Amino acid sequence: MIPRPFFLLILALLAAPFAPLGVQAQEAPVIDRSATGGASTLEDILARQAQQKLDDSYRSEDVGDPARAAPETAPLGSLGGISQAEDWRALRYNKADVTVSSRSPAADVLMQDGGMAWLAFRAGPLITYGGWLLLGTLALLALFYALRGRIRTDGPLTGRKVLRFPSIERFAHWLLGGSFILLGLTGLFQLFGRKFIIPLVGHEAFAPLAVGGKWVHNNVAWAFMLGLVMVTVFWLVHNIPNKHDLKWLAVGGGLFSKGVHPPAKKFNAGQKIIFWAVLVLGISISVSGLSLLFPFELPMFAGTFDLLNGTGLPQALGFGTLPTALAPHEEMQLAQLWHAIIAFVFIAIILAHIYLGSVGMEGAFDAMGSGEVDEQWAKEHHGLWLDEVKAKAADAKAGANKAATPAE
Ligand code: HEM
Repeated sequence: MIPRPFFLLILALLAAPFAPLGVQAQEAPVIDRSATGGASTLEDILARQAQQKLDDSYRSEDVGDPARAAPETAPLGSLGGISQAEDWRALRYNKADVTVSSRSPAADVLMQDGGMAWLAFRAGPLITYGGWLLLGTLALLALFYALRGRIRTDGPLTGRKVLRFPSIERFAHWLLGGSFILLGLTGLFQLFGRKFIIPLVGHEAFAPLAVGGKWVHNNVAWAFMLGLVMVTVFWLVHNIPNKHDLKWLAVGGGLFSKGVHPPAKKFNAGQKIIFWAVLVLGISISVSGLSLLFPFELPMFAGTFDLLNGTGLPQALGFGTLPTALAPHEEMQLAQLWHAIIAFVFIAIILAHIYLGSVGMEGAFDAMGSGEVDEQWAKEHHGLWLDEVKAKAADAKAGANKAATPAE
């Protein structure tokens, strides 16, 4: 079994990127604006500076009303019912009736103040927590290797080979895996470029690398999506949970102790967790990636927030009612943050997968390399699957013998 502190550490590392999202801003006290005729007071400014949660409606609603204007002919009459300050507020809160010649969906939003919060989150907590999550995962894997070493096959190898993955499945796996690695590297390069790479190589060298990396990232995404569809078609049926999974989990899959080999079919419970994580995170990262690839065309957050609000979950978790009227730019900002958060969790999980599929376990790589594994390896790690393969081979042999025997 996984020791408790070890388990808590993994949990903390997985939860880390979400921590800043859960931090709620303090509510600002009720502010009396009678002295300013309803306009901002010093308390408003101080509350905003202290990043307190402030009901902005006194400003966002205050965008003028032509009906209130004194007629032009009256003494001291006005030329219109909206002052310049009100006009600016209407632009700022996206309430102005703006007409533009461009037909792009975001062109009539002239001001959008979510950009600063997005930038601050992206440059701060996102890369800090995300970076630590990846480094922490690598450190845990190194610790695991130091404590457990390479997981070796207990019994002697037989030299007899069993086909584990035919070439089409190996192709699908490497299409998915290869594209994922390229996407991960180029994505991290974009995210960490300003903070770590520009100070190292300078702007001149970074610029073409960033442009090239972005090109690779945008185009290789299609290979990833195709790989995801292929592995889902090939492996979904083998990843449906069964009664052996609980037994496998109860002994930690034998990963933490020598000589323990819980029975498993084609995929054990640990691999099923990886499979479902790849599927769910893969879909989420693909959808948010498509939303980024086609700016403003595929907004996904306002609708999702509306659905979530309906469940009552965000309110119960202390996030309050999520906003459902989002400017097109806000949709893009949220898509970028979500894409990156999913990517960090995904990469951390895949680092563990790569470790176990290569240096971590003797004989595992062959399954995806040549496609064939030693019978002893199959017996120890996927005993029930080996029995099925042998039974099928015996059936096929019996069928062939029967066909070859001349009828009497
Ligand atoms: C160098 C990188 C990688 C190596 C060495 C590797 C290795 C392996 C191996 C050996 C298996 C078969 C295990 C068995 O026989 O039961 C496997 C399965 C699998 N791989 Fe990879 N893999 C890599 C990258 C990836 C990536 C990037 C993804 C997904 C984004 C991925 C997703 C899967 C899935 C879903 C399975 C089936 C479930 C499982 O065995 O966990 N792999 N991989």
